[in-house]
Amino acid sequence: MSSADRIRLVLAMAGASGSIYAARFLKALMEIPGETWFVASPASIRVFKEEFSTNVETAAQILDFIQEKWKPKKIHTFHFRKFEDIGCDIASGSNIWDGMVVVPCSMKTIAAIRTGITENLIERAADVTLKERRRLILVPRETPYNRIHLENMLSLHDAGAVIAPASPGFYQMPNSLEDLGDFMATRIFRLLGREIDLYPRWLSDKESD
Ligand SMILES: Cc1cc2nc3c(=O)[nH]c(=O)nc-3n(C[C@H](O)[C@H](O)[C@H](O)COP(=O)(O)O)c2cc1C
Repeated sequence: MSSADRIRLVLAMAGASGSIYAARFLKALMEIPGETWFVASPASIRVFKEEFSTNVETAAQILDFIQEKWKPKKIHTFHFRKFEDIGCDIASGSNIWDGMVVVPCSMKTIAAIRTGITENLIERAADVTLKERRRLILVPRETPYNRIHLENMLSLHDAGAVIAPASPGFYQMPNSLEDLGDFMATRIFRLLGREIDLYPRWLSDKESD
């Protein structure tokens, strides 16, 4: 995918801590051309409400919240899909998308994708993304990991998914939660083949001389 292409993405939020990562990725996505099918699990909305002290109830309201908070340009088209709707367009591989991102991703959703027991639209769309050999990027957050978590993530890695843990670097001296979110958002875009630098690239002393 070159940066000139319109991006076609499935984006899901599952109920792990780290709503800031989804929020900053969404904010950046709103400013680039393309379209995204957006699904949020009930648990993700609950966590979002806790972490941003807001009273959003739907994926659409999450976008409104981001718009209100950071005022991104609105270029991107979003299609909202219901978590329970396991029969909608993105439940089928006959619809084409470039890749799917689950950010943040809970250990429960990781386990479901790993086993193939897909009981909601996030799990089904991830299953389809893998079977169609499209890019699946999972951004898990839990600590510490137990053996089940680790085995599930290794299996998903071996099945073709990218496990991109929510582990922002601190070597660039982030000043805010937004900086931490932008670090992860930049990494996710790069994994999708997009060079969108929301955060300055690291330059070693030698390179910056
Ligand atoms: C405030 C809060 C924080 C949570 N943080 C995490 C987390 O960091 N990682 C995780 O795997 N689950 C976390 N959970 C638990 C998940 O939300 C729970 O397992 C849920 O069933 C996940 O469902 P989903 O993957 O369909 O969204 C958290 C729950 C709450 C209420």
